[in-house]
Amino acid sequence: MRRLMILGFAFGLAVVGLGQTPAPGARPEGDHLIPSLDGQALFLNYCAVCHGRAADGTGPMAPVLKLKVADLTVITKRNGGKFPFERVQKRIEGTGSAELGHGTKEMPIWGPIFSQVTTDQDFGKVRIYNLTKYLQGLQK
Ligand code: HEC
Repeated sequence: MRRLMILGFAFGLAVVGLGQTPAPGARPEGDHLIPSLDGQALFLNYCAVCHGRAADGTGPMAPVLKLKVADLTVITKRNGGKFPFERVQKRIEGTGSAELGHGTKEMPIWGPIFSQVTTDQDFGKVRIYNLTKYLQGLQK
């Protein structure tokens, strides 16, 4: 009987735990569109859910993703001391290279989303540029 109770308790905990985890196909909170062009505002709104507010790869959604969420503060470090501005920009836009294993990637493509906000392509580009600038400023 005692054992059953412990089991029941453990099960209850598991259920509570599950309730807090976003469902697998849940969309990041970034789905609501903000008109801002500011890099930091965009980052906190669209990216922090996975990458974390400090961009270190520890957002609340990171644990439920299959892929390890990239730590965006060490891009320069991982690239021999140079921030690969254009590559990061393309990566966010979703027009980048196959080198990053696109087929399986869980990192959303933002180019079309950011352009949709104002139906103006150029503002989409400005958003991505500003985001990239913001990330560049975070490098350790
Ligand atoms: C749904 C979760 C999720 C969201 C939201 C998200 N990312 Fe990512 N991101 C990932 C994952 C997972 C990776 C690592 C795997 C990969 O490269 O696809 C990644 C990788 C990246 C990389 C590549 C890092 C490198 O070292 O090459 C960049 C840059 C990046 N994200 C920027 C952003 C920006 C900017 C936003 C917001 C506009 C954003 N991400 C939103 C999950 C996410």
